[in-house]
Formats: sequence, C-alpha cells, structure tokens
Amino acid sequence: MQKNIQTVKKIAILTSGGDAPGMNAAIRAIVIAAQHYHLEVTGFYAGFNGLIDDVSVPLGLKDVSHIIHRGGTILKSARCPAMETTLGIAQATSTLLKAQIDALIVIGGDGSFTGLIALQKQWSGQVIGIPGTIDNDIDGTDFTIGFSTAINTAIEAIDKIRDTAEAFERIFIVELMGRHSGHIAFNVGIACAAEQIISFENFSFDKNANHNEAEKLKALAKEIKQAQANRHASYIIVLAENLWRGGASALAQQLQTIAKIDCTPCILGHVQRGGSPVAKDRILATKMGVAAVQAIISGQSNIMIAEQSNTIAHVALPIAIMHQQGVSESLVQAQENILALTAQHLS
Ligand code: F6P
Repeated sequence: MQKNIQTVKKIAILTSGGDAPGMNAAIRAIVIAAQHYHLEVTGFYAGFNGLIDDVSVPLGLKDVSHIIHRGGTILKSARCPAMETTLGIAQATSTLLKAQIDALIVIGGDGSFTGLIALQKQWSGQVIGIPGTIDNDIDGTDFTIGFSTAINTAIEAIDKIRDTAEAFERIFIVELMGRHSGHIAFNVGIACAAEQIISFENFSFDKNANHNEAEKLKALAKEIKQAQANRHASYIIVLAENLWRGGASALAQQLQTIAKIDCTPCILGHVQRGGSPVAKDRILATKMGVAAVQAIISGQSNIMIAEQSNTIAHVALPIAIMHQQGVSESLVQAQENILALTAQHLS
C-alpha cells in the first residue's frame, strides 16, 4: 500500500458532467485521506474546464468540513466539449504539468471518463475515476454515487402525486431522468407501485417506423381503459426521459387524441439531481474517495474505483466505459409479474 508514497506529492480532483448528490462527500473523503498520506490537494473548478482554463483552489481539511450533507459539488461541474479536441487536451495537460500534479481523480460519468482516458494518453500522471452520476449506468460497479438519493427524491415526489391522483381519480404521466437507461425509471416505478413503467428495457421503439409508435400507443390506451373500467382510482405511468418523442406532454396529448384519455404530465427533471445525499450515497462516496487515494499511493492508474457486492474493486477505465450497465432482467420481470397479478385480481 505504501509503495508509491515517496513519489506522489500533489493530487488534483475535479467533478464533471451531471452533478450527483454525494460528490461533496467524495471530495471530503479524498482530502482527508490525502492529508493522512501527506499529499497536497488541488481542486479544479467546473469539470475539465478548470484544467483547460487553469482555475483551481488548494483544498485542505477546513474546506471540506461540513460538506458531507450538501448536494451539488463545491467544485462546480460542467460538460466540456473542448476535451474532445486536441487543443483542449493539450491545454489540460499543460495546466497539470505547470501545477506539478502527480495524479488526477475525476468524479463523474462515462463522458467524463472518456475525457480522462484521452488525457491519460498525453499526460504521464496517474488517473483515477470515481463513478458519480444519478443514472447508475456505469459498467463494473453495482452503484454510482447519487443514484440512491435520486431514486429516493423521485419516490417522495411520486408518493405526493399519488395522493392528489387518488383524490381526483386522475391519470398522471411522470417523466424521470436517466439519459438512456431505465435504472431510475424501473426502481422508482416499482417502489411507487406505478401502474405502468415505460422505459428502454420494456418498450423499445423502431425509431424509423412511425406505425410502431402508434401500435404502442393503442396498446397503452387499451391497458389504461381496461384497468380503469371497473374501478375509480389513480393511475400512474412512469416514463423514462428520451424515450417517447416529445416526452410526457406529447404522450398525454396523444392519449387524449386517440382514446379520449385525460392524463396530467409531470416532468420531475433536475429535482432528481439535487438535495442532501442519503446515507447510502454518503457512505459509498466516502469509501470510494478513500480507495481512490489508496490506489494512487499503491501506484495504480487508468482505473475506476467500483463497488461490487459491497467490496471495493478496481475496473480498468476503458472497460468501465465500453458498455452501459443495463437494468437487471429480474427487475424488469418483477414489474411484469406484479402487473399481471394485479390485473388478475382486478378483473
Ligand atoms: O447524467 C445525469 C443526467 O441528469 C441525466 O439523467 C440527464 O439526461 C442529463 O444528466 C441532463 O443533463 P443536463 O443537466 O446537462 O441537461
């Protein structure tokens, strides 16, 4: 574990891409662990932009006290298209060399790791990724920092929607984040007993065939009508973002037009990214932050810190970004089974 301790003196951190609750907890853990190993820490602002524009701040224990409970990131975050250019990577490299940084830790998602891999090809320092995204779509880790908080936030919101939906016997379409994966939609939908989950895993479209979308719409309308026929109740459809053309509002309008079904669309949006991290994210972030510094000390590079079956693991960065982590088949099946059983009892 101590192998590299004499050679590494200065490490840097940045948070990149969509912010996720728990990023601050990870920054805190890194700074505390770095202090333990007598390493200096520099924080670069606004993702890779901070490297390109050379905007940074030294981070000590005082800077990270009482931030574990705060959402967002004290280092700010951003997406950085410049990291896809040769010039951007050269500028980032030059900043790291000028600041005499020995190792860089990036907390973010797969886009951020792609930038880190590109940087690593030009810069000889150590690079470590920590998976931080509400989407939970990074391969090789059971969970990403921020996912647990995001699903809890969405569950709380939908429970409230359920109250008013019950009172008015209304149908709601709630659109949830997740970019191109259904981890949020499926976990939240099941936890809220949503009557329908429409996500990438169970509702794929042939994007070039409009009739396909029309068929799906008809089937959905039929299911809603059947479910509502014998009872007066609320009905909640959880819709993954980026799936239905025009999102929740378009789907509501189409159901009205083709089947005279009144639905209220509700887009939860960035509410899911904010708020104080739940215990699970604080603990995961703390474990990963410490593990990242220990990996640097032991001479590792080009890896992502992961958690697999409750144990910290190292995954090669190129492997982590190769595929998106899918929603488990058993979760998709669980929703189908529960829907089938519910339908039987209501018929
Ligand atoms: O990756 C996190 C995420 O919140 C996704 O769920 C969502 O699709 C995207 O970021 C939204 O990005 P932006 O905040 O840049 O619109």
